[in-house]
Amino acid sequence: MLSYDETGFRRDGAPHRVISGGLHYFRVHPGLWEDRLRRLRALGVNTVDTYVPWNFHETAPGRADFTGPRDLAGFCGLARECGLDVIVRPGPYICAEWEFGGLPARLLADGEMRLRTADPRYLAEVDGWFDALVPELLPLLASRGGPVVAVQIENEYGSFGNDSAYRAHIEEALLTRGVDVLMFTADGAEDAMQQGGGVAGRLATATFGSRPKERLATLRRYQTSGPLTAMEFWIGWFDHWGEQHHVRDPEEAAAELDELLASGASVNLYMAHGGTNFGWWAGANHTGQRPFDAGYQPTATSYDYDAPIGEAGELTPKFHAFREVIGRYTALPRDPLPPLPPRLAPGTAAGAGSVALLDALDVLGAPVADSAPLSMERLGQAHGLVHYRTRITGPRPAMPLRIDGLGDRAHVFVDGVPLGTLDRNAPGEGLPLAVGPDGAVLDIVVRAWGRVNYGPLLDDRKGIWRAVHHGHQQLLGWESRPLPLDDLARLPWRADGSRAPGPSFHRFRLDTGSADAGGAGNAGAPADGFLALPGWTSGLLWLNGFLLGHYDTARGPQQTLYAPSPLWRGGGADGDSGADGRDGSACNEIVVLEMAEPGERVELRDEPDLGPRAAAPEV
Ligand code: GLA
Repeated sequence: MLSYDETGFRRDGAPHRVISGGLHYFRVHPGLWEDRLRRLRALGVNTVDTYVPWNFHETAPGRADFTGPRDLAGFCGLARECGLDVIVRPGPYICAEWEFGGLPARLLADGEMRLRTADPRYLAEVDGWFDALVPELLPLLASRGGPVVAVQIENEYGSFGNDSAYRAHIEEALLTRGVDVLMFTADGAEDAMQQGGGVAGRLATATFGSRPKERLATLRRYQTSGPLTAMEFWIGWFDHWGEQHHVRDPEEAAAELDELLASGASVNLYMAHGGTNFGWWAGANHTGQRPFDAGYQPTATSYDYDAPIGEAGELTPKFHAFREVIGRYTALPRDPLPPLPPRLAPGTAAGAGSVALLDALDVLGAPVADSAPLSMERLGQAHGLVHYRTRITGPRPAMPLRIDGLGDRAHVFVDGVPLGTLDRNAPGEGLPLAVGPDGAVLDIVVRAWGRVNYGPLLDDRKGIWRAVHHGHQQLLGWESRPLPLDDLARLPWRADGSRAPGPSFHRFRLDTGSADAGGAGNAGAPADGFLALPGWTSGLLWLNGFLLGHYDTARGPQQTLYAPSPLWRGGGADGDSGADGRDGSACNEIVVLEMAEPGERVELRDEPDLGPRAAAPEV
């Protein structure tokens, strides 16, 4: 059990310092949890910290899944085997550069719910989630012999609001369901944040990335005795699309970690291992004042974070610098350091057909008719694309076609011919559209990135959530078709192998098992790869049916997508060598949805390329 008194933390009664590393099970393939936890332990930390994302576990409205990649108990069990305590941060809001800060998209359907407040509608949803989560958590608690030593209440609530009834509700919701380990809050090291986020009688901790003495002095005004904890010590930073890859000098970060530990404080390294925003799970920031302002910044697929343990398990120079510092304050494990996980040899995937998105609509979703275009949330859809179709009468002179309330980028077609794109970050912009006497069919495909996960503009709706205008006229009478892209098995690939124009799916095959077969020539052991799309523009990539995430070669920064070993066929990771059933070779299928211009080839590389580097902001 972890507790604290005037002098600091105690673990099972003995004086203790928490030296923790952030590692989110939902950002690591479950087949690699153990590997990453072993690396974390090798860093010298005694604890692992993870959030629990509500929207990741809620696979259908009101239904929570705790199996496979969502097996929280399995992850905690592995942590214990690796000699680590666990800190769990169940939100319900988690920030974390995660889609909608972990909240389910359906909470935005009526547009009225006051999120992260004591609005009874929101609290009822939170209670439903905790009814599912907390029974999973209880057997894992240290009070019952499990590895979970502490549980956080909400997350940096003081950066968002100051509703004390809401904070009290979250505390009470955990308590009444049986959480009886140490509970704490975590807020920025500023007065307003500590005041807005703290819960009387609960340990207050702080989040920051620099100037530890000054930040801890601020925290001391709120945690007036007992342990001081940097619950998030930001040792790197995340990346948005269109920015550079943020890095923080290892020696400089290690020196600040040393200063922090020398002061006697406890720490959680955010992140010790960042991992990957697979699928649709990357969140976004928004620098505007209102939802429809410019300033939307989607987070990249890699969550490498310039962490000590790299996205592909690398023990980086920061790992070694931190380990040395940590070794000054605690005994380091004696085991030899784990080697770099194996990597597939480079190769090139062979093209195997394409199909235009507009030719595949019927196998991807069913349209819903309504006067207005329906937002993704109104359609009951959490992620993906939405297709909208209407007819416009003619003749009409050229007038701008504008979308009011767009999340996030629209690809517009008139009678199947591309007219152009509209982006939420250019809200006033329109596409000039003239219509002939016979009228025209207007198709709009809206692509969404993650929902905003931080700040006041959390209610980030997707698709078209207001209106489409031609000149001053609002266009009404729409078919809205959800395209969640959860199942691509029925795509009608073109038989002639030709390339489809406009936003299209492209299929590739990559044999990683046999050099003779023209493949990448790997011996069949499980190994990681990095997929690159040189000359492509922007879209999504699936490997053997698993969505690795968004790519954006044109904007960067990252130029490769991390494809971890368990996803590859062949090599026996899951015993599915020869899954294509033809010749026993390891044939992998790659599907790319390119929204603009496709390149010629998909490359398998043996090195990541996270793009040009820039110094992380000083936070
Ligand atoms: C805050 C949040 C974290 C994360 C970091 C930035 O501290 O609490 O979830 O968003 O910022 O990486």
